[in-house]
Amino acid sequence: MPFDLADDSSLAAWLAHHGPFDRILHAAAFTDVDGAETNRDLCHRSNVQATANLATWCGREGVPLVYISTDYVFAGNTTRQPLPPDWECTPRGVYALTKWQGETRVRELCPRNHVIVRISGLFGPGGRNFVKAIVNALRGPQPEVRVVDDQTCRVTYAPDLARALAQLDGAVGTYHAANAGALTWYEFALAIRDQLRSPKPMVPITSAELNRPAPRPVWSVFDTTSFDTAVGWPLPPWRDALARYMTAEGWL
Ligand SMILES: NC(=O)c1ccc[n+]([C@@H]2O[C@H](COP(=O)([O-])OP(=O)(O)OC[C@H]3O[C@@H](n4cnc5c(N)ncnc54)[C@H](OP(=O)(O)O)[C@@H]3O)[C@@H](O)[C@H]2O)c1
Repeated sequence: MPFDLADDSSLAAWLAHHGPFDRILHAAAFTDVDGAETNRDLCHRSNVQATANLATWCGREGVPLVYISTDYVFAGNTTRQPLPPDWECTPRGVYALTKWQGETRVRELCPRNHVIVRISGLFGPGGRNFVKAIVNALRGPQPEVRVVDDQTCRVTYAPDLARALAQLDGAVGTYHAANAGALTWYEFALAIRDQLRSPKPMVPITSAELNRPAPRPVWSVFDTTSFDTAVGWPLPPWRDALARYMTAEGWL
């Protein structure tokens, strides 16, 4: 049954039809980071209103809510050290601000039964992602691939995250989850090219050269210690995750 999380009655009907629930994982969001700058209302509707609706229901029913958030809440961060979950949030841009507001609603409405898991650089089967975009660019007609080299983060392989979230039963609070190791997008793209054994030139560029409408975090490297401890193991190194993903897609 299709439904709109931002429509309270449609959500209530869906929950009544599909319950009862041990816990609810809320990953839906308006994720077009640049498009959000000109679609503020739509973005607010999905990232804040829909999240508040779900959090209200979970708070009332006592069902644990796992809310997937983002490293973009640190878009204005200038400190170069691994960021723990209680690091000051500095959201910049409509997407970042609305995801942060979504977090705030979850904490207010489910004070005792929420887990907020911030992730960054999500990739995996289905949908669009950075790895797929670089593979397509390497196999496409353009003579070179230009990739930003002044944003440092960690990346998250969806199947690894899913396995870890299954272990997070009973936790409450805010966590940072990502595969091990920090990298720039250019370094990630180079690793993808190496895996494909592609000879195509790859050129590092700055965020200013790319000139996108929404700001990106310059440094959003997570400290994942509390998540790794709660789960019982750290997510594997990103190069390992990348190789598994590219194999699963049949690119290697
Ligand atoms: N991608 C990343 O690198 C990244 C990084 C950090 C955090 N995250 C977070 O991870 C989560 C998943 O990201 P993603 O990139 O996989 O997202 P995605 O591919 O854009 O998928 C988002 C899904 O949310 C659904 N949705 C949006 N608004 C809805 C509403 N009002 N009611 C019902 N469904 C709604 C969309 O449905 P339609 O297709 O029908 O619109 C879509 O299926 C998001 O919470 C995002 O903020 C992503």
